[in-house]
Amino acid sequence: MNDLFDKIAQNRGPLGMHAKDAHGYFMFPKLEGEISNRMVFRGKERLIWSLNNYLGLANHPEVREADAQAAKDWGLAAPMGSRMMSGNTRLHEELEANLSNYLKKEDTILLNFGYQGILSAIDALVDRHDVIVYDSESHACIIDGVRLHMGKRFVYPHNDIDNLKVQLVRAEKIAKANNSGILVITEGVFGMSGNMGRLKEIVELKNQFNFRLMVDDAHGFGTMGPTGAGAGEEQDVQDGIDIYFGTFAKAMASIGAFISSNENVIEFLRYNMRSQIFAKSLPMPLVVGALKRLELIQKNTELKDKLWTIVNALQNGLVEAGFNIGSTEACVTPVYLNGTIPEATNLILDLRENFDIFCSGVVYPVVPKGIIILRLIPTAVHTLKDVEETIHAFRSIKGKLDSGVYRTEKIVTA
Ligand SMILES: Cc1ncc(COP(=O)(O)O)c(C=O)c1O
Repeated sequence: MNDLFDKIAQNRGPLGMHAKDAHGYFMFPKLEGEISNRMVFRGKERLIWSLNNYLGLANHPEVREADAQAAKDWGLAAPMGSRMMSGNTRLHEELEANLSNYLKKEDTILLNFGYQGILSAIDALVDRHDVIVYDSESHACIIDGVRLHMGKRFVYPHNDIDNLKVQLVRAEKIAKANNSGILVITEGVFGMSGNMGRLKEIVELKNQFNFRLMVDDAHGFGTMGPTGAGAGEEQDVQDGIDIYFGTFAKAMASIGAFISSNENVIEFLRYNMRSQIFAKSLPMPLVVGALKRLELIQKNTELKDKLWTIVNALQNGLVEAGFNIGSTEACVTPVYLNGTIPEATNLILDLRENFDIFCSGVVYPVVPKGIIILRLIPTAVHTLKDVEETIHAFRSIKGKLDSGVYRTEKIVTA
């Protein structure tokens, strides 16, 4: 027998094992000051490319005003209790109606967190006789939802529609034998690669197979499609998405989330999602703040235009400068480089300390050994000058990486 605390003292987990070296710099860094394109990291102003403040709403004056006024009017306590017991309000329902209207769905349920919300929706929708089929690069919240499922699940390689068909054949065999259903889960925009889920092709498969489609559009909501209604709108298949999930944590620059679907499904979720029935309702300032943000997204379409000006300038500039940005189709901009973990460490240090550019870096075990991904998130508050400065810096670090400087020289922090 082993003492639990002794065990975790020895095995810190795949990320925790790096805590001593990385804490405060590579992990848990503190970005200070107002959320914007320039923030302070370790006492110095840096150009920030790592926040999902896509539309720049975090510090929009009308948003700040609405948030402050709502906090004054309501405080953070109201409403108390879960929606079901005592925490329902007219404004929660108004926000749900406005989201339904925007997304062209019959009804919507608010979630107090996206992660627990979608996990719990998956748990509520399927029982042990049903089958889940999901994309291999799904976000952790989908994976955790699938982990709660007691029945069969099949995973298909990322965006591989031929393989999805194979999995659907397997799933249908079980579903027919059990007289049960199939839930296919994918994302509108994948947060690491920027690939869109192949929603059009998946929706077309409904002609061949009997399943319901759930889409996590955390990164597509507000950023994709002519009106910003997401990846379904972008691919003109919004109707084919049976269960649409979005979060307020990205383009809305807040916290909370929602699921939109038909009335029947939403009523079922309202009465069956354990994460919402047994947890406190979304606080009033977040609801009032979300109403204002949604109004701005719909009214101020120039925010999305500005975002895409920056996205296009950054992505085209990186490609012209010879960088591999993979197959992104959205705002998420990964830059793929080849190098070891020590090289990645030196490269990120150099970028932060000598070029004052802050972006996230991803290395093994999240990606295969030898690959370094720098992940840039453009927003509407970035400028074309920021893009120019970044491409210049990236050219320089790539030159150093290719010539082996990061293998031999140790970059030191200030
Ligand atoms: C694809 C995806 N789904 C779900 C979530 C979870 O959303 P929330 O931050 O609202 O819990 C995230 C956020 O990190 C995400 O990137």
